[in-house]
Amino acid sequence: MTEPTITCVLYTRQQIETTVKKLASEITHDYAHKNPLLVGILKGSFMFMADLVRNLSFPLEIEFVRVSSYGKNKQSSGKIAVMQGIRTRIKDRHVLVVEDIIDSGLSVNYVLESLHRKKPASLKVCCLLDKPARRQVNVPIDYTGLTVPDKFLIGYGLDWAEQYRYLPDICYLEDEKP
Ligand code: IMP
Ligand code: MG
Repeated sequence: MTEPTITCVLYTRQQIETTVKKLASEITHDYAHKNPLLVGILKGSFMFMADLVRNLSFPLEIEFVRVSSYGKNKQSSGKIAVMQGIRTRIKDRHVLVVEDIIDSGLSVNYVLESLHRKKPASLKVCCLLDKPARRQVNVPIDYTGLTVPDKFLIGYGLDWAEQYRYLPDICYLEDEKP
């Protein structure tokens, strides 16, 4: 694997924290008395999910599903593979899907369709990053953190070929200056 030269910071950890707090306050307003089930899409959302939940102080549960679409490329393969489905019963529950970044929209769309079939009381989407430039399917996003340019981003849970998830800031690869 050729290591690309990183890293240009697009959003600092402070900007991320402010954004997560803003989302948490919107979610608190809408879900504080609903005992929602937050469903994180692995792997990318693990860090965002942890910080988001840390900022919520009302009854809620969490779950994870794992899907994969990218392989080692920077563009979606278009094929979504479910590596781990949901195990919790969601019928009549208020379900909030938590995603790190929505790009083509194919992954979250796939997850939404499969959850919808299980008849939740409500089904909404919260994403930290919305990258609308290459959207292939229309996805209703209820809570958006930041709208980002058409760059391949790494850090804060986001990977390139499984690397760089540990970076505390959201960065882009240096060969892709904005
Ligand atoms: P989509 O199916 O094209 O919307 O892509 C969704 C998933 O691909 C996200 O949940 C991420 O895990 C990953 N992804 C999309 N864009 C990026 C990026 O810029 N960097 C890293 N991962 C990304
Ligand atoms: Mg993801």
